[in-house]
Amino acid sequence: MTQKRGAVEFRAVRKNFGAFTAIPDLSLAIEPGELVTLLGPSGCGKTTTLRMLAGLESPSDGQILIGGQDVTRLPADRRDVSMVFQSYALFPHMTVGQNVAYGLESGGMKPGPARERATETLDLVGLAGLEKRLPAELSGGQQQRVAVARALVLEPQVLLLDEPLSNLDARLRRRVRTEIRELQQRLGFTAVYVTHDQEEALAVSDRIVVMKEGRVAQMGSPRELYESPASEFIADFIGEANVVDGQVVSVEGDVAQVELGGATVALPARGLQPGPARVSFRANAVRVTTGGQGIAGTIATSAYLGDHVEYEIDGPLGRIFVVDDESETPLRPGSAVVLELRPRGLALIPEGT
Ligand SMILES: Nc1ncnc2c1ncn2[C@@H]1O[C@H](COP(=O)(O)OP(=O)(O)O)[C@@H](O)[C@H]1O
Ligand SMILES: [Mg+2]
Repeated sequence: MTQKRGAVEFRAVRKNFGAFTAIPDLSLAIEPGELVTLLGPSGCGKTTTLRMLAGLESPSDGQILIGGQDVTRLPADRRDVSMVFQSYALFPHMTVGQNVAYGLESGGMKPGPARERATETLDLVGLAGLEKRLPAELSGGQQQRVAVARALVLEPQVLLLDEPLSNLDARLRRRVRTEIRELQQRLGFTAVYVTHDQEEALAVSDRIVVMKEGRVAQMGSPRELYESPASEFIADFIGEANVVDGQVVSVEGDVAQVELGGATVALPARGLQPGPARVSFRANAVRVTTGGQGIAGTIATSAYLGDHVEYEIDGPLGRIFVVDDESETPLRPGSAVVLELRPRGLALIPEGT
């Protein structure tokens, strides 16, 4: 049944702010133990969705379920979720241990057991021995982990994280996101994670909900979104694909023969019929050669980036962006090239925009 601890469901949720509809109609289901990321451009409704789940905003219509229970009208403190805020919101005058124990004590637990549980949770997030420090005496990454510990100590059904890495520098962000993911997998809690950074979303998620103007543009595993984008918006948003015009020449079963700039390639048909089609074309979908067979083109721009070369190439598909990680010497603008199609990095797009 739906009485699954940690399950989350939005059923036809709408959210208006006055006359403005931020979320027109949102339905989605999250399985227990999944880390699901809400991803999308600024203003698409990620924070509003998370705040409705936390009970900090109420939906104008529809239902929200946690662990199979309808919580739509329950206040935040009765929802069994904890939120890790962007700003961490640690109490600066309390020690790390006191910060983590605070939620337990204000929930009625005695100071002794609360402190013990706080210590255990700090161990869990790799902060053993730092209980007595003040937040200001920790690095940004450590403060982040205190914020996670403070949420986890309450053993919520669902952990909510709103842009949890945005106060960290780029190097630390990569490490902390790996730590959060590792912890989530080890402990198996459900997490709803908000970010506008597609690379971060790909790195941490079981599934990603890409949102656009308050709607689900596509929900799927990182691989599904990257390899089978449902729309041009997804193809561009996840991994910045070139979107080019192709022609489905024939379809046999699930396989389409697709003509692309004079070359032909077999791709999953994705329900398309013969005729013009839009194709998601990743930067690594071709090998750049100076002989061989494929799509003819001319180098327009070339940038050497150490382990790869980035090109913009003009040809029958228009100007496309290509990454070459094989050749050592970058080709100069004006060079004639032939693009050999690789089996990966191309996908027919079932719908426009
Ligand atoms: N309290 C509010 N009052 C009015 N409009 C709001 C309020 N909160 C959010 N919005 C609007 O709702 C939309 C979604 O906002 P938000 O959920 O914060 O987006 P995101 O987190 O994806 O950047 C935006 O257009 C935003 O301006
Ligand atoms: Mg936001």
